[in-house]
Amino acid sequence: MNHIILSETTMYHGTTLRLDLIEPHVAELCFDRRDGPVNKLDRTTFGELSNALAAIRTASHLEGLLVSSARDGFVVGADIYEFAALFALDEDALAARIRGYTAIFTALEDLPLPIVSAINGVALGGGFELALATDYRVMADAARVGLPEVGLGIMPGYGGTVRLPRIAGMACALDWIVSGTQRRADAAPDAGAVDLVVPQDRVRDVALALLREAIAGREDWRARRRRHHQPVVVDPAALEAARLVTARQAAHYPAASAAVELMAKSASASRDAALTLESQAFAAIAKSQAAASLAGLFINDQLLKKKAKNDSAHGRPVGKVAILGAGIMGGGIAYQSALRGTPVIMKDIAQHALDIGMAEAGKLLDKQVAAGRLTQAKADLVKKTITPQLHYDGVDQADLVIEAVVEDQAIKQAVLAEVERHCGPDAVLASNTSSLSITALARGLRRPHNFVGMHFFNPVPAMALVEVIRGPHTSGEAVATTVAYAAAMGKTPIVVQDCPGFLVNRILTAYLLGFAGLIQDGADFEQVDAALEAFGWPMGPAYLQDVIGMDTARHVVEIIAAGYPDRMSAADNPGSLLADAGRLGQKNGLGFYRYETDSKGKARKLAAADTHALLARLQPGGPRTFGAAEIVDRTMLPMLIEAALCMENGVVDSAAELDMALILGLGFPRYLGGPLRYADFLGMHTVVKRCAIYADDGALYRPTARMIEMAAASHTYFA
Ligand code: COA
Repeated sequence: MNHIILSETTMYHGTTLRLDLIEPHVAELCFDRRDGPVNKLDRTTFGELSNALAAIRTASHLEGLLVSSARDGFVVGADIYEFAALFALDEDALAARIRGYTAIFTALEDLPLPIVSAINGVALGGGFELALATDYRVMADAARVGLPEVGLGIMPGYGGTVRLPRIAGMACALDWIVSGTQRRADAAPDAGAVDLVVPQDRVRDVALALLREAIAGREDWRARRRRHHQPVVVDPAALEAARLVTARQAAHYPAASAAVELMAKSASASRDAALTLESQAFAAIAKSQAAASLAGLFINDQLLKKKAKNDSAHGRPVGKVAILGAGIMGGGIAYQSALRGTPVIMKDIAQHALDIGMAEAGKLLDKQVAAGRLTQAKADLVKKTITPQLHYDGVDQADLVIEAVVEDQAIKQAVLAEVERHCGPDAVLASNTSSLSITALARGLRRPHNFVGMHFFNPVPAMALVEVIRGPHTSGEAVATTVAYAAAMGKTPIVVQDCPGFLVNRILTAYLLGFAGLIQDGADFEQVDAALEAFGWPMGPAYLQDVIGMDTARHVVEIIAAGYPDRMSAADNPGSLLADAGRLGQKNGLGFYRYETDSKGKARKLAAADTHALLARLQPGGPRTFGAAEIVDRTMLPMLIEAALCMENGVVDSAAELDMALILGLGFPRYLGGPLRYADFLGMHTVVKRCAIYADDGALYRPTARMIEMAAASHTYFA
């Protein structure tokens, strides 16, 4: 058992921080959380900080205070795991709680002695706000600082909107708070938010030396502190620009816009009045749907990271990979693998396909060089680790072989059976399929326990999700190896059970069939797209199918619908009608919409006047106008039901993974947190009630027995 040795110089010792006398008149407040990996601001920390400040106030001989961290980072911010309980308080109680925490920082700021922060590592959110309450900030060159709250659907609540504009000016504060980006040491001092940047191992010494200067009166710390009390000089241009940027997102992500208005309102207020306004504005925003969802996404993401880490410990190391099937997809996978340090053999039967694959990898590397993320020399080295070839030589050395040939069951089966003969006995064999059964593909393999599905999303470099599909014979080791490799590639792997469409495309299909039903009932596809884009989707379902490619989307819908004949039918699918008419979407310039390439080479979406006439063939009742709410329900409810079924069928282990898969794989609106959190937000009772309205539209709107039970018992997917 660890015992804390309290020395005579210890003034206070808690579980998250301690206060020591380090010189006769200088104390050090050191954040050193012992029950977790990082320093964070939870209820315990605030209590202990308050105790430490009381100890400082009683020590009248003190002349200066150093604020530091004994961990790798400084303080990562408020404890996000406490948000759900905290934000469940009613708005007034929440504002009062936040105001109470803010008052502790104010008590630190008002100590009658100079205070210097030694920012040795990340200081984010409340962690940076803590440093802003001190007189000077010395930052390590490797550290990062920032106010990332808007990314969590909230705004700075511990004085950030009050102190940053008073210290660094309104333009800087607006920029930092609205963008939420973390700033590296090269950017922070220019903005005036930190005073000095020094090498990591010098931070504490330099901060202490600065503190001594202030104690000796050679640094006018009182003048600096007075800035914290002065009104902010309003910068009308910066304010206007921030208003413009934030207004666009405000409907679903209100935090940034609310922070801008708060800063405009509190600019002339006294510090304490401004802090009170901040607590009130924070509490209002913390009650928004985005706040609940985005904090939930952070927690889901942490869970996925933990699972991948755990799998890495149980999987076999992957030192070399072979990809069968070059082309755009194979080239993208090869690039991603090589970039992250795993060499690749790229094998195809056609030189032409190898050329396309290598050109794709080269193009992606060039982009990295152009963006300044890679030197040309490093890009050349990475490219050299991709070996294009027409033969199987060396494939026996690969720890993982990814088949990425055409999406045709018979061809894939033949290729898999052939490559298995060239693989090492322990190599994992993975098929990159979006819609074919892993169980069926495993038939004919001699080592089905080594076989797994590995579904990359297109375009590979941009899409974080990889579905890792476990077939009935797939071993735990094969799954763990694939998960670990996907994580090493920088992807987010999610393990799913084999079923038609796996997880993401299965749920997508329910949504696209909801769209098909709307069109059949006379809806205007442009109106449907507009309603769903306003609801938060990056693109509506018609536009999405144009982007995916009508032939691909049609294949996915038809094959998956056939897998669930009790509730899905691909008959009269608008995408199939357009594909039959040769309208393949962006790839041939005509789908639901028409596309022109603009001067930057980007596809520009234009109306295609004849689409309505073509779709009228599917609309026996003629055109009809739908309200936005009905459009949303008729597409979203089938998704929610399919998501519920995936949970009930054990397709995925947890609600967190399901929601993350849809966010990462499909661009599901983040402010909703994923289909299951959205269902929780609506309440299952409401979901079931709304489904009843569309009962006549078929089984796509029939809630499961479990959903009805959940509705009756007011159960939710997330605690
Ligand atoms: N609250 C609670 N826990 C947090 C946290 C926070 N604000 N920030 C990080 N953590 C925890 C993580 O859950 C993880 O815990 P675990 O090891 O038990 O799983 C640990 O700190 C390390 O985080 P991780 O993300 O795995 O490490 P990283 O080095 O990749 O990134 C950060 C570190 C701090 C940059 C990143 O975690 C982050 O951005 N956190 C959020 C910071 C933030 O938004 N702060 C403002 C809150 S208002």
